[in-house]
Amino acid sequence: MSKTAILEIDGKKYEFPVIKGSENEEAININKLRDLTGAITIDPGFKNSGSCTSGITFLDGELGILRYRGYAIEDLADKASFLEVSYLLIFGELPTAAQLEQFETDIRKHTLVNEEMKGIIDGFPKTAHPMGVLAALTSALTAFNPKSVNVENEKELYQAVCKTMGKFLVIATWTYRKSMGYPLNYYDNTKGYVENFMRLMFELPTEPYKSSSVVIDALDKLFILHADHEQNCSTSTVRMVGSSHAGLFASISAGVSALWGPLHGGANQAVLEMLEEIHQNGGDTEKYLAKAKDKNDPFRLMGFGHRVYKNFDPRAKIIKKAANEVLGTLGVDDPILEIAKKLEAAALEDEYFKARNLYPNVDFYSGIIYRALGIPTDMFTVMFAIGRLPGWIAQWKEMRENKEPIGRPRQVYTGAPLREFKKPV
Ligand code: SDX
Repeated sequence: MSKTAILEIDGKKYEFPVIKGSENEEAININKLRDLTGAITIDPGFKNSGSCTSGITFLDGELGILRYRGYAIEDLADKASFLEVSYLLIFGELPTAAQLEQFETDIRKHTLVNEEMKGIIDGFPKTAHPMGVLAALTSALTAFNPKSVNVENEKELYQAVCKTMGKFLVIATWTYRKSMGYPLNYYDNTKGYVENFMRLMFELPTEPYKSSSVVIDALDKLFILHADHEQNCSTSTVRMVGSSHAGLFASISAGVSALWGPLHGGANQAVLEMLEEIHQNGGDTEKYLAKAKDKNDPFRLMGFGHRVYKNFDPRAKIIKKAANEVLGTLGVDDPILEIAKKLEAAALEDEYFKARNLYPNVDFYSGIIYRALGIPTDMFTVMFAIGRLPGWIAQWKEMRENKEPIGRPRQVYTGAPLREFKKPV
């Protein structure tokens, strides 16, 4: 007997089906609500509203659980590569060795970006924020790939996936090269995806880039940890834009813009800027904790708190451990790491943070590793976007394959009633 929910309005009762997910999450299906009652629901920030069913990522905010296609994030971060996880998220299963090799080969076929794109990036000032340039370049890819993807055609959809994975990585690094006045690099098809990222970023015409397995392994793990996170702000944006049947590049470009915000992916840059400010203020973490608690102060402890996790963000735990390992192996002694640990310890003991279940999130420690790898602070959110790309693609693909309707929320109007048109004197 399936469960139902009863709603009573003005003495009249209405019954709605309750659906249950594979991890026993329950949702009241209200798709007949307005027809039956004339009323809608309202839920600013969608804190209690589900936009879809999805088989890609499961997270339990109370228990601090995160799984991609059923695999625990701890296992994937420890045992898989970023391209394996990308394949898993997008196609639903871990690839065999042959499938993974084919996937990497097929991505390599699309890593050349049309030379005319250089004219577009040249139009930006060096001071432009890399996320703004990345959003623009991603959308501009549509100009060179005008045919929209026929999602019913498996081969076409697969090619669009490989094209997006290949070109996005290259143009993401171009945003840095542009800011430095360096020539734009090309992907080297003899090297791996993550190794190419570091080459594309740092190789100069004057000398080849010497890659390090420590750096590549650390980045691979960080990209995996950022790869998907169910219906977060940027992923919901990608799904919403894609629901109008806008193309994949256009939808990903919208996701980049949503991720840029400091309350979302932009937090990793804001965390480093906050920690550096604390460092310059003599490491006075207590002063900044007090600011974060002061309702009259707009300052928030960046990298802390989460809409869903009311326990430790499992990714933050893994990244914190990796930060110690990577900085130790690279022999980097960064006082910012000690400040982060001191701030975390103090916050976790503080009543304000405990009462609100505010814990470190994925953005709290990631920037410390990026900095140790020589990634500039304003590129941190671009790093997040590179990691999140397979998740965006997977969610867009699922939304289109499920033939989801165009997203169009309702509202409650609170403006002026009907009034006669009279020009003000
Ligand atoms: C990401 O959704 C995802 O999955 C996102 C993400 C992903 O992988 O896609 O996990 C990535 O975006 C991580 C979050 C990165 N953002 C930050 O680190 C910015 C700092 N954090 C916050 O701004 C905040 O915690 C949010 C935006 C992350 C969540 O905000 P919510 O869920 O809307 O919670 P809220 O703003 O209603 O806060 C509840 C209370 C408020 O206090 P009261 O009004 O109850 O007194 O907690 C307080 C807030 O003032 N609060 C904080 C705080 N975060 C929440 N107070 C101080 N510092 C903070 N960081």
